[in-house]
Amino acid sequence: MMNNMIAQLKEELSKMVESAKTIAEIEEVRVNALGKKGRITALMKGLGKLQGEERKEQGIALNSLKDEIKNLIDKQTAALKKQEMDNRLASEVLDITLSPRPQRTGHIHPISQVIEELVTIFADMGFQIAEGPDIEDDYHNFTALNFPIGHPAREMHDTFFMPEDKDEEGEEAKKLLRTHTSSVQIRYMKENKPPIRRISMGRTYRSDYDMTHTPMFHQIEGLVVDKSTHMGHLKGCLSDACKAFFEVDELPVRFRPSFFPFVEPGAEVDIGCSRKDGDFKIGAGDDWMEILGCGMIHPNVLKNCGVNPDEYQGFAFGMGIERMAMLKYGIPDLRTFFESDVRWLNYYGFDAYNRPNRATD
Ligand code: DAH
Repeated sequence: MMNNMIAQLKEELSKMVESAKTIAEIEEVRVNALGKKGRITALMKGLGKLQGEERKEQGIALNSLKDEIKNLIDKQTAALKKQEMDNRLASEVLDITLSPRPQRTGHIHPISQVIEELVTIFADMGFQIAEGPDIEDDYHNFTALNFPIGHPAREMHDTFFMPEDKDEEGEEAKKLLRTHTSSVQIRYMKENKPPIRRISMGRTYRSDYDMTHTPMFHQIEGLVVDKSTHMGHLKGCLSDACKAFFEVDELPVRFRPSFFPFVEPGAEVDIGCSRKDGDFKIGAGDDWMEILGCGMIHPNVLKNCGVNPDEYQGFAFGMGIERMAMLKYGIPDLRTFFESDVRWLNYYGFDAYNRPNRATD
């Protein structure tokens, strides 16, 4: 009878163990079977009432039941713990691999790139940067630069004048969009005593539009003033800058006399190139390409800025940034710079991580 009961209990408890699906449930089964008030424990306690052989037999049977059930519970507990850990590992998964970098699509516009390159070159030579306003007045853009009122050179600049302002008095106060960065020379010299070595760059405007002209374009302007600055300095500085910019050590550079009202003598700078069979190449061959204007600052300009021309002299230069970019990077049409065509920018633009080349490397 008793043996029957033990067999039944074993089957019942085994099923309970098997159907426990969490640690909490299996613990409940353990307490239920083996705890202080558990069912096996209760039967064990009852052994005390039995005698002799029966007690011994039942004792053995109950002990083996207890061991078997304990074994089953331990096994199930271990399996459930493992299961629980597996579930946790699966749910708390952390992807520590680095996702691939998104393909960079942004590009530096050739104008920004060339400005960076030129600034790097002139900064290496000790030039500082100055800025001036895009909306200028006639005085700073023309008169102070030795373009007297009515001078024909003014006409060459195709100036955009701003609508007349009633408060303006006289020709020189007339507002306009600066036609060149040379106006910054005046502003800078009026506020800073020599020695001066600075560049300024920015937008300039002229009413003109074709393959090599746009109404807005960029210039970079240089100004050097000191007691003994002379034409040799001008030539050395600009030859070195051209060689560094075009990255051609043996670049032929030629200074050809030219006229600008604010310099005397004035010159245009040409660099050597070849144009064989429609193939344009900088640095070799027997042809020339004009790239910038320069000269020794006219004494009138120094006087206009409160600098004594008997004590000081200096040189200035100005160049078109787009022109430099077109020559260096083979961009054929100036107008494309301002069309905001992403395909153009992808082709002619620069990687943002590129550093501009350096003059002294
Ligand atoms: N301002 C002139 C232009 O736009 C360029 C230029 C020529 C600038 C000679 C200068 C210079 O500083 O000395 O055509």
